[in-house]
Amino acid sequence: MKHFTSVLDIPSLEDWLSEAKALKQHPRKHVHLGEGKTLGLLFFNNSLRTRLSTQKAALNLGMDVMVMNFGKDGWALEFADGTVMNGNNAEHVREAARVVSQYCDILGIRAFAQLQDREFDESEPVLNGFLDHVSIPIVNLESALEHPLQSLADALTLEEHRTKARPKVVLSWTPHPKPLPHAVANSFIKIMQRMPVDLSIVHPEGYDLNKDIVGPTPVLFNQEEALEGADFVYAKSWSSYQHYGQVLTEDPEWMVSLEKLKGAKFMHCLPVRRNVVVADTVLESKQSLVIEQANNRTYAAQLVLKKLLEQ
Ligand code: CP
Repeated sequence: MKHFTSVLDIPSLEDWLSEAKALKQHPRKHVHLGEGKTLGLLFFNNSLRTRLSTQKAALNLGMDVMVMNFGKDGWALEFADGTVMNGNNAEHVREAARVVSQYCDILGIRAFAQLQDREFDESEPVLNGFLDHVSIPIVNLESALEHPLQSLADALTLEEHRTKARPKVVLSWTPHPKPLPHAVANSFIKIMQRMPVDLSIVHPEGYDLNKDIVGPTPVLFNQEEALEGADFVYAKSWSSYQHYGQVLTEDPEWMVSLEKLKGAKFMHCLPVRRNVVVADTVLESKQSLVIEQANNRTYAAQLVLKKLLEQ
């Protein structure tokens, strides 16, 4: 594995989950592995969990960490080749990527979809811009299309809480006042398709995700029907993919409640808008796994960094 940009970079999910569980038991066991190595983290967007859990993971491996809010503090970057740079962009990614490669041994990058132009977002301009010019491994801290560290943590959480050989897992769209990207949903679908679970997706009409990612996974449009008999309900808001980046409805009927969950466990990547996406009572109940998911972000990141340090 040269870089970690997608859940598809995981060669054996079963092996990785078992190794992540072992790291969770003994987080400082490999504290000498990263000695003398530096992790750089470039954030083009906000973060709480990704930022802190990835730093914690690096510290557990003995690495030094440098973090930069690139979107706020860095020079505005140009990604297109051959541009006459007489506009707002002061630095080209060709220089930025090579410069950062000299300071760091591994580089994490967070750069969300802008949700204006689907083709532009799907070209992953920031992630691919750096990938084209770095000489060190890159870890995707959430790009336009994927959030693989989140999904690895989600898979670990589900693995720890499953009580059946083949649990029913439902990814449910939930309302949100702002247009949100598709990365978390995309990576969650991809990783669940590799696990022994019965996955289905439920959303209102007009919120279909990328067909190439959904593949054979069943899609429903009735939340009550979809949640029937569910063992895990993963709530996520996303904007329309067809009417790219638009909020078509904020229908409060889609908010997750204890009544809808019945006995199912509740999952969400956080941050979550209380009483819009999910009722307070769910988050305060024992059925909620959201804090454990956030905890598992450390071990997901630690496993990825360990793999990259070992190669
Ligand atoms: N789930 C997640 O990525 O959280 P942050 O945006 O706070 O990093």
